[in-house]
Amino acid sequence: MKDFLIAILLVASLSLSCQTPQKTAAKRQPLPDCEWCGAMDAPQELDWQTRIAPEDEPGEPIYISGVIYLSDSVTPAEGILVYAYHTNQKGIYDKKGDESGNGRRHGYLRSWMRSDARGRYAFRSIKPAPYPNRPEPAHVHITLSSDEIEEYWIESTLFEGDPLISETSIAEEADKGLFSAIVRLEKNEEGVWEGRRNIILKK
Ligand SMILES: [Fe+2]
Repeated sequence: MKDFLIAILLVASLSLSCQTPQKTAAKRQPLPDCEWCGAMDAPQELDWQTRIAPEDEPGEPIYISGVIYLSDSVTPAEGILVYAYHTNQKGIYDKKGDESGNGRRHGYLRSWMRSDARGRYAFRSIKPAPYPNRPEPAHVHITLSSDEIEEYWIESTLFEGDPLISETSIAEEADKGLFSAIVRLEKNEEGVWEGRRNIILKK
């Protein structure tokens, strides 16, 4: 009887020790190696326009749109996967706790688009705020990729008038017109800040 009880205890402790590491492993899924990437998390079906922040997200509504061109800067680039993410109105990459992939780094204010035959992309969201403790301007991170193009990070979209934008950036972007990474926002009749940023794919 004693041997039988010892055997039961052994089996019980073995099964416990097998379960514990599995639970731990499930909690600690490794983050993707690429800190800034997001294409790998993209849904299969994508439109050329999307919404990043949910409608009830606090903040000023924005609508950013533009056209992506091939490196000849004339031909619209169709089928480009655009990934965009940004901070909330407190400057934080806010998370709900159920994020997967790089959503665990970038938070829930992120989304994807695929440029249409006219090269168009567009997103609605709220205007992000600068980081609380770093002198960097408010920005929207953007990556581009396609079947042929490995995902790469383009200069963040900034907002004209932000006092944290450096003189160097202003000078570099000054003559780019609608291709400038520093977007001019104008409030439309619905109270939404609209801005345009066209993009040329790298060679
Ligand atoms: Fe950032």
